[in-house]
Amino acid sequence: MSGPRAFILGHPVSHSRSPMLHGYWLKRYGIDGSYERADVAPADLPTFFAGFRDNWVGGNVTVPHKLAVMPYLDRIDDAAGRIGAVNTLWLEDGRVVGGNSDWIGFIGNLDELAPGWDGGSGRAVILGAGGATRAAVYGLLKRGMEIALCNRTVAKAQELADHFGKGVTAHSLDELPGLMKSARLLVNTTSLGMVGQPPLEIDLSRLPADAIVHDVVYVPLETNLLKAAKARGLRTVDGLGMLLHQAGEGFRHWFGRTPEVTAELRKLLADDIRAKTPGA
Ligand code: ATR
Repeated sequence: MSGPRAFILGHPVSHSRSPMLHGYWLKRYGIDGSYERADVAPADLPTFFAGFRDNWVGGNVTVPHKLAVMPYLDRIDDAAGRIGAVNTLWLEDGRVVGGNSDWIGFIGNLDELAPGWDGGSGRAVILGAGGATRAAVYGLLKRGMEIALCNRTVAKAQELADHFGKGVTAHSLDELPGLMKSARLLVNTTSLGMVGQPPLEIDLSRLPADAIVHDVVYVPLETNLLKAAKARGLRTVDGLGMLLHQAGEGFRHWFGRTPEVTAELRKLLADDIRAKTPGA
């Protein structure tokens, strides 16, 4: 392989579906490049970054390095700074830049699967106060939404509300039924419902009939939350599209082409998730 090389940097990275995703686009567009797994232990990050410019055009960053890479970067973009995590690296005039495209994935997925989602009144109610929550809040604020954060540990929701400022409020889970009455969008950003975790069991009966329910969990593809929302006749958005839509930003930087999220690509990943997840 002689073309540009990009990576997924993590530890471990064997589980990552990003190589499948970028491999699909490289093949589809006939690009002579590669997207490779870089399993790098925390202690080996200095060596990895010392050889960065000689080996790579950039890559993605996953657990446990989303914060740890920051000291090695020449610049961090606004999204990564506000979200507090880096998931995409690229070179600009030989300088290593870190960005965060998770918010683009979050919003791109909503735009694709629930067009018009931000058109009416009502706020977004988000469950959780972790890393995925921060990307969702950043994206929703950019689209002018008001956001109510509900979390088991209210202090963490309050910390996020203080960090993002105007337009974001913090609440306990006890307040959820009241908040649902005027919600346009309900988003799960907790780990509940993910394979191996307890299901998220909440009563959706108070949501307005035109509310949208979005779960960022995508293994399984149809969580209990989404099943319950469908049973109530609500519009739903699963989490796979967030993975698909966050990836284009990096691909564009590394390989010079804006890739498309096609039905064929979605099916490729959905089939892989179903094949590897019992009961999904
Ligand atoms: P990530 O960075 O991937 O979003 P995280 O920071 O571990 O993950 O956040 C997980 C989220 O799921 C948190 O909001 C967590 O609530 P707490 O802040 O109270 O820990 C939420 N969560 C996990 N298990 C939960 C449970 N059993 N009930 C309610 N919320 C839960």
